[in-house]
Amino acid sequence: MSDQPAENTKAQSAASANAMWGGRFAAGPDAIMEAINASIGFDRRLFAQDIAGSRAHAAMLAAQDIISPSDAEAIREGLLTVLSEIETGSFPFSTALEDIHMNVEARLKEVIGEPAGRLHTARSRNDQVAVDFRLWVRDQADAAVAGIEALQKALLAQAEAGADWVMPGFTHLQSAQPVTWGHHMLAYVEMLSRDAGRFRDARARMNECPLGAAALAGTSFPIDREATAKALGFDRPMANSLDAVADRDFALEFLSAATLCAMHLSRLAEELVIWSSAQFRFVRLSDRFSTGSSIMPQKRNPDAAELLRAKIGRILGATVSLFTVMKGLPLAYSKDMQEDKEQVFDAADTLMLSLAAMTGMVSDMTANREALRAAAAAGFSTATDLADWLVRTLGLPFREAHHVTGSLVALAEKKGCDLPELSLAEMQSGHAGITQEVYSVLGVENSVASRTSYGGTAPSEVKKQVSRWKARLA
Ligand code: ARG
Repeated sequence: MSDQPAENTKAQSAASANAMWGGRFAAGPDAIMEAINASIGFDRRLFAQDIAGSRAHAAMLAAQDIISPSDAEAIREGLLTVLSEIETGSFPFSTALEDIHMNVEARLKEVIGEPAGRLHTARSRNDQVAVDFRLWVRDQADAAVAGIEALQKALLAQAEAGADWVMPGFTHLQSAQPVTWGHHMLAYVEMLSRDAGRFRDARARMNECPLGAAALAGTSFPIDREATAKALGFDRPMANSLDAVADRDFALEFLSAATLCAMHLSRLAEELVIWSSAQFRFVRLSDRFSTGSSIMPQKRNPDAAELLRAKIGRILGATVSLFTVMKGLPLAYSKDMQEDKEQVFDAADTLMLSLAAMTGMVSDMTANREALRAAAAAGFSTATDLADWLVRTLGLPFREAHHVTGSLVALAEKKGCDLPELSLAEMQSGHAGITQEVYSVLGVENSVASRTSYGGTAPSEVKKQVSRWKARLA
């Protein structure tokens, strides 16, 4: 089911005072007031959550003898009718009715008449919107975890295929030491697991129910907040009614987790942009995730990766925006808080699309094993192995070994060759104790195979981590 109801342009007259609180008002709002005040243009997206909240509330009111069973049954059936009207696109959304809560209630009145007026007993739009939004964000946290796990699986498949493929590891984007493709892929699997953990933590913390806080102070009706909390899948009701209607920290936690995840995606995206260039040729993105140029026939552009690199701008923007809205607000509800939803909707949509696009790109891409291998050997990438050999075999202090190796790198650079291409005599010009054995550590395969420390890049370690992750994500 889509959470985006179909558009309905049937306008309703706003000439008269509001049907929900018209008693106190002689005139309806100015058109500009209506335009700035209405949230129905975006909060219609909460319709399923709003109706679920109302159903739980009505059932509880009846169970507590606050409304009659027959009224509760009429409300229940009426809400189902309203739900299907929204889902099928026949619901007459009205800007004059401001938001999803009043749109649903007003339509319920048209459908079932008088009992509809009893639904709002012991409730306010303040706890109503808080529960709707929590339910929506909770679903998105679950969706984010699922999206992250799909991407982790795609990365894991790459890691498994190339557990022992050698590639350059970089620091400062300069060749540093050889690493393995599998190791590089698993680095992102780890980052993403912390992202998923943040969404899970946020979900656990947000899973308390604000319904029943009413406007801000609770209610004099004998409501059962445990019952509504349970019916809506919450762990418990929120313990303080002011807090329940006043905070949006759950949305901010979701946005913060989304921002961190988008940051990770942007780094992987940047690597894909670099790696797919003609200068690197480390990966080939599939046709399905590349675009051409209208003028340069040879081009294969990594547009999806570039867009993923940029999407964090929107998500971080939403985060900053909502922090700015919430900062300094006095308790309890203020209308400022209506500005929470569009930011979260956009950030959630952006994150889910980003995760799906990255998953597609990673699943489809082909690593160029030969290009990775060739690049791994360039740039004196085994210099550290030479220095380590001098320490291990000749007992040199590391600082001295570093110095000797530096002089040999300078010599190779001058000769225009790589370290393993220096003759033994040339090697011995750096240190007389060097023997033929040194060449065994200068190959990139040897280099990676030797890095068996826990979490290191050796294929043997990478294979262990792949098995661990396969079991965890199964
Ligand atoms: N549309 C409102 C919002 O999104 C619902 C709550 C309105 N409450 C109120 N006291 N006016 O925040």
